[in-house]
Amino acid sequence: MSRYWSRLAATIKPYVPGEQPKDKKYIKLNTNENPYPPSPRVIEAIKAAADDSLRLYPDPTCSSLRQTIAQYFGLAGNQVFVGNGSDELLAFCFPAFFNPEGLPILFADITYSFYPVYCRFFGIPFETPALDDEFRMPVEAFFKTNGGILIANPNAPTGRFLDLPAIESILQRNPDSVVILDEAYVDFGGESAVGLIKKYDNLLVVQTLSKSRSLAGLRMGFALGHADLIEGLCRVKDSINSYTLDRLALAGAQAAMEDEAYFRETTAGIIKTREATAKRLEALGFRVIPSTANFIFIAHPVQSAETLFTKLREGGVLVRYFKLPRIDNWLRVSIGTDAEMDRFLSVLGSIVRQ
Ligand SMILES: Cc1ncc(COP(=O)(O)O)c(C=O)c1O
Repeated sequence: MSRYWSRLAATIKPYVPGEQPKDKKYIKLNTNENPYPPSPRVIEAIKAAADDSLRLYPDPTCSSLRQTIAQYFGLAGNQVFVGNGSDELLAFCFPAFFNPEGLPILFADITYSFYPVYCRFFGIPFETPALDDEFRMPVEAFFKTNGGILIANPNAPTGRFLDLPAIESILQRNPDSVVILDEAYVDFGGESAVGLIKKYDNLLVVQTLSKSRSLAGLRMGFALGHADLIEGLCRVKDSINSYTLDRLALAGAQAAMEDEAYFRETTAGIIKTREATAKRLEALGFRVIPSTANFIFIAHPVQSAETLFTKLREGGVLVRYFKLPRIDNWLRVSIGTDAEMDRFLSVLGSIVRQ
């Protein structure tokens, strides 16, 4: 605490990202990074872009990348916004679409823990309809009057997917609110709502290259929606920083979106490993929430999640433990390579059998 901090800086509660330890080498299953490297074409593109042109500012409209993403999804360039990771893009959505001192926005009580951080930062009131005991969405709780809706689909940290008919019912009941779908994990077995954009001008779909395209280190996310929503985001971005994406990131992201074969192969690999891991965890007695993400949410009937977390860490495996109401006996485990999951299961097996 410093007397020089503003009231805002003194009172906000910043988000705490999963740890990136430096003390020793862990099997890192705690931040939902992709265990496979990015497409070799991404590395080539970044190397080719690392030249004298770095003295020049990048294109502030990111028009070439937006066009590539638009084509990929069958949209127009003005229906695509690109940002420096989807976290920053989601942050821009708050001042772009939600009103301070207005009606509360709605998101589930158990979801991405960055959402309440943004709300407090931007002074946006919020309400959190409760998931049921199986972590399913209470769809009808989103039919009430609200100032906006935010849904992670698949949800984090549970991995549960809400089907598109349910999403569409929420859109139909909320023509006066912007409905944001955070599809950070949709490529691991979910179905994107991008096809609904034609029908609903209040739908914004947000995706990221951090997970399914192995580019967490590049920082690139994008939003898809009606051109008016995209313009709202551009207005906010251009009031803060015109150049959120650098030349190297633009080149790398473009190459990633163009390598469809590599994307399909690596996402299929993760899905296969996830399903095999879930079966082996069930055989060890764990409760496993059905997941369409690159992580699984698990609980043991006897051993507490906190103890498991600590013992796994001692055994060289990092997973994510949230000491939060309702989920403090659960662990979120990112899906690594087959070899990493073998090691995780062997350490975990020796802990639960003790
Ligand atoms: C639900 C959800 N949305 C968004 C993000 C942010 O991803 P990024 O900023 O890397 O694009 C994450 C990252 O963990 C996430 O879990």
